[in-house]
Amino acid sequence: MQREVLEKNTEVVDFLPLNGTHHIEFYVGNAKQSAYYYQQAWGYKLVAYSGPETGVRDRASYVLEQQKIRLVLTTSLVEGSEISDHHKKHGDGVKFLSLWVDDATKSFEETVKRGAKPYMEPTKIEDQNGYVIVSAIHTYGETIHKFIERKNYNGPFLPGFAKPAFAMDVKPVGLRYVDHCVGNVGWGEMNTWVKFYEDVMGFKLLLTFDDKDISTEYSALMSKVVSNGNGYIKFPINEPAEGKKKSQIEEYIDFYNGSGVQHIAIEVENIIETVGELRNRGIEFLYVPDTYYDDVLDRVGEIEENLEDLKRLNILVDRDPDGYLLQIFTKPVEDRPTLFYEIIQRKGAQSFGKGNFKALFESIEREQEIRGNL
Ligand code: FE2
Repeated sequence: MQREVLEKNTEVVDFLPLNGTHHIEFYVGNAKQSAYYYQQAWGYKLVAYSGPETGVRDRASYVLEQQKIRLVLTTSLVEGSEISDHHKKHGDGVKFLSLWVDDATKSFEETVKRGAKPYMEPTKIEDQNGYVIVSAIHTYGETIHKFIERKNYNGPFLPGFAKPAFAMDVKPVGLRYVDHCVGNVGWGEMNTWVKFYEDVMGFKLLLTFDDKDISTEYSALMSKVVSNGNGYIKFPINEPAEGKKKSQIEEYIDFYNGSGVQHIAIEVENIIETVGELRNRGIEFLYVPDTYYDDVLDRVGEIEENLEDLKRLNILVDRDPDGYLLQIFTKPVEDRPTLFYEIIQRKGAQSFGKGNFKALFESIEREQEIRGNL
């Protein structure tokens, strides 16, 4: 009974209700060509565009969709803008992790009151399709959380965006929704950012991995996972840990020139089909040694998938008390060893594949060594 009351109270004090990830916006060097990659390789559909043809003079943005995932690719058309400075410093990377809310004004006020650094005051933006309210706050590095309230809008994306003049035919690969987005922060900064999500955004600490859980000889890191009240938004935060050689998180921070988004995990309905298709289209994944599969079933127990398929495609398996999950990681998707993707299929499990970390990090180290960054 007391617990029920407590839970009710917790609900009442969720001062930042979030409906999900609204979109993820990248600042990139050439949005036109990146959009081609996401359409042809990943099967996203181009649904909206903004740029000189729609009256925007300083940038071009392409909006891509697949089921519940929306990516925006933006390139600066002018020198010295926030976008071009960001790209010069970080290379291609995530600028906005934008959250879908019912009230962007309240989201801004509640978080700023608790210590968030404002990026954009609540602003009404409108066109012939209605209006939206957008506000934004800073998080780690130069990454921003936008709050998007769009219940009074029915255009293709947001005001200022138009349906594209041309959109190529694409074949989706079964990407369903953003499962989690991981941030890499500098030495000793993990707890600061966990506290930020707890105090400023009302998130709860879900899980902790220390360097004993996830260190190999070299690629040590520490990680904590925070989640919002309804569990729709999960943000693991990594920091480097001491190892014999350079931590993979340190390599990221060196090349990104600071903290930023390390990987975006996307949930799929059939990982074997999705990964098979992505490989056919040229997406590169981390290599997993054959020996991983020798004893994986001893560790995770019975699974529905054929082990040979998992081995052929280098898909990893892990189990927790609620079920199991299948996952795989791409190599970085830019020339800098920064952002990569995770493909994950959850079969009950709500965790993040802790049992795979060692096998995975040994693979990451092999890649780091090839790049000369160990
Ligand atoms: Fe992940």
